Amino acid sequence: MGVGIIGINRFTPEKVVTNQDLEKILDTSDEWIRTRTGIEERRIADDDTNTSDMAYEAARKAIQDAGITPEQLDLIIVATVTPDHPFPSVACMIQERLEAKNAAAMDIGAACAGFMYGIITGKQFIETGTYKHVLVVGVEKLSKIVDWSDRNTAVLFGDGAGAAVLGEVSEGRGILSFELGADGTGAKHLYQDEHIIMNGREVFKFAVRQMGESSVNVIEKAGLNRDDVDYLIPHQANIRIMEASRERLELPVEKMSKTVNKYGNTSAASIPISIVEDIEAGKIKDDDVIVMVGFGGGLTWGAICIKWGR
Ligand code: UT7
Repeated sequence: MGVGIIGINRFTPEKVVTNQDLEKILDTSDEWIRTRTGIEERRIADDDTNTSDMAYEAARKAIQDAGITPEQLDLIIVATVTPDHPFPSVACMIQERLEAKNAAAMDIGAACAGFMYGIITGKQFIETGTYKHVLVVGVEKLSKIVDWSDRNTAVLFGDGAGAAVLGEVSEGRGILSFELGADGTGAKHLYQDEHIIMNGREVFKFAVRQMGESSVNVIEKAGLNRDDVDYLIPHQANIRIMEASRERLELPVEKMSKTVNKYGNTSAASIPISIVEDIEAGKIKDDDVIVMVGFGGGLTWGAICIKWGR
């Protein structure tokens, strides 16, 4: 038996903020944002919707999709850098709302690579036979830590949540390989000090290098070749970074997930949101070999090669 994703869903706020909306409050242009980042619009949560609310909505639907009850969850992991409070964790807050009374609960902080870290952490518990079902949520309300007067960062980010239930899947399916990594020497390039502070060019260079390398590494670790890969789901930060990863794997455009245009960079939520959109669009099918790869503040990175299906 392998360990894989047996249920998945997402929540995205209704409010759409377009590049044209941002032109009105910042010295920026739709043209600049589109050509430099690929972003056309993003979703922003209203004041009454906090991180835990979005996490709960995505989690509730993911559990339904998995066909289990909340009581069957053994562990809840929430990857976020924008929790409602330093403590209790968002994981504990949604444990209460889901009535998942048998689940342990914790948040992890690996910024935009958080969903990758969460999935791999959860996988270990299932593989060892300790737990049967682990809920992993990637969620951010970045709008509350963005400096809305800083055009270097304000145009990039959005809010949202994605949630996946991990469990045993049929032979041959599930997570085939992974890589997680960190480089604290790069912390100064992307961090929060009240607001998000970023050295865009440094993060860009790191992301292009690391996303490409990690993608190639997980394919090799899985004993596969680039030709075996059906689909690439890169962290949706910037279309130019995503394209560099795609080219490294020599995949055609239609084999790469692209939701950055609609949602901007939703950090830990970007990969699970993309998976759900791609399933709905019929782009991901059972037995597809998929590479997911993320990077973020820390600096952190993570990649997973998975054979899709339950
Ligand atoms: O999840 C991880 C989060 N972070 C990232 O993924 C960020 C990675 N980095 C990037 O995506 C890119 O570096 C950016 C999109 C942030 C910036 O693109 P760039 O091509 O690296 O532009 P740049 O920083 O070299 O800036 C070029 C110019 C600058 O003007 P000058 O100094 O050449 O006069 C900026 O001030 O563009 C200016 N600029 C803007 N202009 C209009 C920066 N932001 C904007 C803006 N609108 N929003």
